[in-house]
Amino acid sequence: MAPLAEFFAELAGLLADAENVFAAATDATALEAARIEFLGAKSGRLKDAQKGLGQVAKEDKPGAGKRFNEVKQALDTAFAAAQERIADSGAAATGPTGAAPADLTLPGKRVRLGHLHPITQTIDDLKEIMGRLGFTAAGGPEIEDEWHNFQALNIPAAHPARDPLENFYLATAEVVTGDLSKGANRNLHGPAGGALLLRSQTSTVQIRVMEKTRPPVRIISLGRVYRPDTADATHYPMFHQIEGLLIDRHVTMADLKSVLRLFARSYFGGDVHIRFRPSFFPFTEPSVEVDMAWNDNWIEMGGAGMVDPNVLASVGYDPDEVSGFAFGLGVERVCARRHNVTDIREFYKNDVRFLEQF
Ligand code: FA5
Repeated sequence: MAPLAEFFAELAGLLADAENVFAAATDATALEAARIEFLGAKSGRLKDAQKGLGQVAKEDKPGAGKRFNEVKQALDTAFAAAQERIADSGAAATGPTGAAPADLTLPGKRVRLGHLHPITQTIDDLKEIMGRLGFTAAGGPEIEDEWHNFQALNIPAAHPARDPLENFYLATAEVVTGDLSKGANRNLHGPAGGALLLRSQTSTVQIRVMEKTRPPVRIISLGRVYRPDTADATHYPMFHQIEGLLIDRHVTMADLKSVLRLFARSYFGGDVHIRFRPSFFPFTEPSVEVDMAWNDNWIEMGGAGMVDPNVLASVGYDPDEVSGFAFGLGVERVCARRHNVTDIREFYKNDVRFLEQF
């Protein structure tokens, strides 16, 4: 055979073989082997065939060269098509980083979804239960003045509950008076220019609501309160309270006890025992402490009582016309009792292993 015919025949055979082998490769390893066999820079079959170019007659060289380039182009195209097919099928031997091939039959990675903190869940549950009993939610500021935190609640100036060691007072009126002339920090003062503090109880909201509303009143308030208490299994310096207030005509202690029992039964289920112990709060008369049975013991959940006539008068209500009850329970303790958590500090350690149980 003349060298040119021989060269063309070799190219034709090479192209047919390469197209078959590239098309038959089912993964990237096989394709890579095929690439080396046909397109390998050192000893690939195309490289070998190129040597045949030197054998053809001088006048045939342009045609032979053209044909060689066409075949090379066709091989590159067949290789690229095979490469794309294998990538699409997910059978690549290695990923772009050289990692092991993705096994598409493996289960996917689980996305960890967060959820509400147990205290927030408890707050939502309590709102829901009290909502069913006809109580609407009200709010108030966490930075309070002495009028709402003490005075209007029948806690006079010399009362030990107002001691700086028992409360988180903020900058006092005297300390910031100098700046006031420049107009700064005016909102840091109570209405009477008295000191401000982080509220120590949600009973402040009783006053704020009654100041703005005529009776009947039927509200709850849920929020953070602050006391310089040493943290232990049942205390934390920042905690939450649920406050309840009902003012109407002829409200009695029996109403208070019924509402608290109903509330406890709804939230804890039927098996909960609660007891009322005589106690004292300046803003209720009579007053009780509310305890709940837990692990053969009693745990104090909150305080309650009939709203003191002095408090009703301080907000412009007529104590001869209306009466009412109020209660304030510790949300951390309610939540702990429900989930049998024996140390409320756990709620604030931010340990996901603990928190994800709820
Ligand atoms: C009060 O705060 C009253 N305002 C409750 C009240 C409201 C009485 C309305 C009458 C009428 P006391 O200081 O006892 O009461 O706190 C109420 C509850 O808050 C406690 O029983 C307890 O469950 C919770 N509590 C108190 N201090 C802490 C603390 N440091 N950490 C966690 N919970 C606390």
